[in-house]
Amino acid sequence: MEKIKNDQNINKTNINWYPGHMTKAKRQMDQDIKLIDVIIEIIDGRIPLSSRNPDIDELGKNKSRIIIFNKADLADKEANKKWIEYFKGKGFFVVETNAKSGMGINKIDATMMEACKEKIERNKRRGIVNRPIRGMVVGIPNVGKSTFINSYAKKACTKTGNKPGVTRGKQWIRVNKNIELLDTPGILWPKFDDEKVGIKLAITGAIKDDILNITDLSIYLINYLKENYKGILNKRYEVDEDKEKVEVLYDIAEKRKCLRKNGELDYDKAAGILIDDLRSGNLGKITLD
Ligand code: G4P
Repeated sequence: MEKIKNDQNINKTNINWYPGHMTKAKRQMDQDIKLIDVIIEIIDGRIPLSSRNPDIDELGKNKSRIIIFNKADLADKEANKKWIEYFKGKGFFVVETNAKSGMGINKIDATMMEACKEKIERNKRRGIVNRPIRGMVVGIPNVGKSTFINSYAKKACTKTGNKPGVTRGKQWIRVNKNIELLDTPGILWPKFDDEKVGIKLAITGAIKDDILNITDLSIYLINYLKENYKGILNKRYEVDEDKEKVEVLYDIAEKRKCLRKNGELDYDKAAGILIDDLRSGNLGKITLD
């Protein structure tokens, strides 16, 4: 039986992904911010901290801030409540959404107005009326930014796709007579200070599959589920999750009949099944932060 690497290696997973187009995008955003009243930051509710780009706080330090707590349908309901309170406590307006189904989207207009209340009143005092609120939509790849914009603007004005990091051109989208949005390309940050952030981004699909070791990720995930969501692995794969995490992966490979041509168990395939199940919600509602 081929022994796979143990979880000690996971900390050495080297994820440092910052393509040139992202540097360019960031420079453009630094320019565009002057035109903006409010930053609408989309985050992945399964990783509410890890899916935030720390550069955005610097970029938006003098702006109103809205967090779109997206993919709430895939995340742990109790954790959602806690995280939403956490962000509200930090001064963010927060809207919980499932951009795919449209849940929560009807709250965005009112939240935009509330977040920009002072600005609107200041404009009124200066005699500026009918000037739309301008929001900059930001988010790292795969958080559901395109899906959100399509759902909110109710038209297919941006492409959605399952390959993270696809560059999209700068564009203004008119939602209604009061609100305009500026779409920005999904950007990640140059280095992940905490290696676990990179791992969680990879598990949820924000980082391309081909630059990471899927087996390492699955071992991390098995360990996390054993500790935080007891019973989930057993329910889905009928494995004894009290076993050592690597053994659990072997058992998943066995149960799912993941075999190589030579008849040996294919752990990479089992790891892929596990990660896909997490991404699609088949394991249940799970929060990794
Ligand atoms: P991006 O612009 O931020 O890169 O993300 P995008 O909108 O392309 O969404 C990435 C994936 O996440 C898409 O799935 C999309 O359908 C899904 N998604 C977006 N928001 C939500 C949400 O709130 N809940 C759930 N469950 N999924 C969401 P995909 O597999 O790439 O495409 P598709 O098969 O859904 O069409």
